[in-house]
Amino acid sequence: MVDRLPNLKIVGVTGSSGKTSTKDLIAQVLAPMGPTVAPPGSFNNELGHPWTVLRADENTRHLVLELSARGPGHIAHLCQVAPPHIGVVLNVGSAHLGEFGSREGIAQAKGELVEALSEDGVAVLNADDPLVAGMAGRTKARVVLVGEDSTAELRATDIELDEQARASFKVNGVPVTLGVHGEHQVGNALSAVAVAMELGATLEQALEALSQARSVSARRMDVTTRADGVTVVNDAYNANPESVRAALKSLASMARAGGRRSWAVLGTMAELGDTHVSAHDEIGRLAVRLDISRLVVVGDAARPMHQGAHLEGSWGQESVLVPDADAAVALLRDELQPGDVVLVKASNSEALWRVAEELLNT
Ligand SMILES: Nc1ncnc2c1ncn2[C@@H]1O[C@H](COP(=O)(O)OP(=O)(O)OP(=O)(O)O)[C@@H](O)[C@H]1O
Ligand SMILES: [Mg+2]
Repeated sequence: MVDRLPNLKIVGVTGSSGKTSTKDLIAQVLAPMGPTVAPPGSFNNELGHPWTVLRADENTRHLVLELSARGPGHIAHLCQVAPPHIGVVLNVGSAHLGEFGSREGIAQAKGELVEALSEDGVAVLNADDPLVAGMAGRTKARVVLVGEDSTAELRATDIELDEQARASFKVNGVPVTLGVHGEHQVGNALSAVAVAMELGATLEQALEALSQARSVSARRMDVTTRADGVTVVNDAYNANPESVRAALKSLASMARAGGRRSWAVLGTMAELGDTHVSAHDEIGRLAVRLDISRLVVVGDAARPMHQGAHLEGSWGQESVLVPDADAAVALLRDELQPGDVVLVKASNSEALWRVAEELLNT
């Protein structure tokens, strides 16, 4: 079908974390350049992806697609449905490690995107992730590396976060401030800039559009401040070790910048296979090292997080284990003080966004 739309440029985005966030940034940066179609939310599998493709017509100039893989061959198949001109690979993490067995297996599957590109295509690869940068050898397309690494063609330097964890930085020396929250958005933003420049924008035009971009898919670092000054960060759409680390760092920097108490309300990260216990333990320890004031671990399956926090040792910090979301809400209603910052995050299956929503309804 898309072969009957010769003016259409298709952008495919894959990675373990940040596909939807990056798809949303790319769509907002491309919108001023011409009619752009991108799916709502996270339409990234064998159902949602073709649904989006069918939204494109002869007026559409850009189609931005999110591609996910639960096994080998999935991304190659989606690339046959709609062959991308530009492929973006964000990162290789440990989401779905249970299904793939190893990070190398995940890299193999994600790299199917760059294998599907032709000679006149472009592969946008994360210079900071060795498994992604290593995909350069698997594509006929031209490679654009992005990241903080000195090998990056589009390079972010001088990154600073404000009291709402919005990043200001320079891209090849030109300054920009993001409207979306979290340091992890820097890499996502660089990918969006690379795509826009490939499709004809100047660096300045791309950065101007980027600075206007906002969070459009819900429950991903949604930052809301209540009348009493309590800030709730709803990042409860989903969780894996990398995205929880990114969210905890954002929380820590918000608390530090504003001299505020920080709360991390964290539930289970699903689908981690054999790494379940160690991954949860690591997150508990990280919360202590980042000096998060209170850790609230929700649900018995996440217990190793609570144990990890205790083993790491804490001064003036505390970790509590509560059985469910209702108990978390009750604890927070009792103990939150004006000015506190609360992060809420867990895998989708935990529906922990209820905690954030209830806190905002009080
Ligand atoms: N580059 C990144 N690195 C690490 N974490 C990120 C990155 N970008 C976004 N995140 C975090 O990961 C979580 C999921 O983000 P997003 O929905 O954009 O990812 P996704 O890859 O589309 O996920 P899914 O596979 O569930 O569709 C969010 O909570 C967000 O804060
Ligand atoms: Mg998604």
